Amino acid sequence: MAEIAVTAPLPGDALARLEELHTVRVRPAGPPLVGRDMVSFVGGADALVCLLADRVAAEVFALCPNLKVVANYAVGVNNVDLEAARTSGVWVTNTPDVLTDATADLAWALILAVARRIGEGDGMVRSGAFTGWQPALLLGTGLQGKILAIIGMGRIGAAVARRGVGFGMRIAYHGRAPRPVDGVEAEFVADLDELLARADVLSLHCPLTAQTRRLIDARRLGLLPAGAIVVNTSRGEVVDEEALVRALESGALGGAGLDVYEREPVVHPGLLGRSDVVLLPHIGSATREARAAMAELVVDNVIAALAGDQPITPAVRPLVPRS
Ligand code: NDP
Ligand code: DGY
Repeated sequence: MAEIAVTAPLPGDALARLEELHTVRVRPAGPPLVGRDMVSFVGGADALVCLLADRVAAEVFALCPNLKVVANYAVGVNNVDLEAARTSGVWVTNTPDVLTDATADLAWALILAVARRIGEGDGMVRSGAFTGWQPALLLGTGLQGKILAIIGMGRIGAAVARRGVGFGMRIAYHGRAPRPVDGVEAEFVADLDELLARADVLSLHCPLTAQTRRLIDARRLGLLPAGAIVVNTSRGEVVDEEALVRALESGALGGAGLDVYEREPVVHPGLLGRSDVVLLPHIGSATREARAAMAELVVDNVIAALAGDQPITPAVRPLVPRS
């Protein structure tokens, strides 16, 4: 029997399958585990199941010699030192695909909420300020024929693009290479600055890496056309939040829809009072269906790795897997 350390309870009963095979230690829900607290928590465990705010640094791989697999309950793996895992012989797994539609739906919920001023309208009705239909009440932005610019045409980016076609938008995207999407006419724009200069709606779907940290900075925000909408459901650190606030304050942007933040869960105070932004608490994948499927995938990955097999969805393949 192997020992599995789980940093927080997961939705559904997927963990029960692990308990049938192994000894499972589940930490009660609490603040993220970082630094030496993470090392102590893992201890002699063979597998770690963790959340996206937990930090799995190089010291965890160095000081926890039994650890064979880190199964992240997320598709993004920017919270794990991937190179240290690889060279230490530890699998890192993630939860792709099962959350793609949920996250793409939420990106679209943000696009529509900002373009059509849903939050402001909701607030107006609840506060009693709605006094009757008016020709110019809460005028928003039409999306049909406009350009939806996507950074990162991966699984979620492609799902957002497909929905964009349904809303009559023209799709353009940037990434490190062209990634054609079946059934979607999408223009690959190799020069990010050129894409930004044409974006009516900018939606971010790249992972957080050394190359994408603060990819959208003050200079690049300045390239967006007047009235453009910025939507971020990737990772907060992809955008310079201070620069975004300044761009909004200048009146250059049409608004922003954010599910993720640079210093999560702290939100830049300059965003909180603005009526042209819609702010969500990192709920991109938060449907019952997606979160349950993520838990099942985490469990399948741990079971496979501990059996000496290749996990179902590896994010990092170890140089020489620990045994
Ligand atoms: P994918 O790996 O399928 O897609 C990411 C895409 O980003 C790839 O196609 C890649 O394309 C592109 N990319 C990588 N590096 C760069 C770069 N430097 N510049 C531009 N594009 C780049 O991942 P998913 O679509 O499954 O998930 C994307 C991200 O969404 C996750 O990493 C996670 O951070 C976030 N996420 C957030 C959720 C939420 O709750 N808000 C829920 C789920 C995911 P190429 O290789 O061609 O460059
Ligand atoms: C992810 O999976 O990366 C999200 O941020 C949470 O589902």
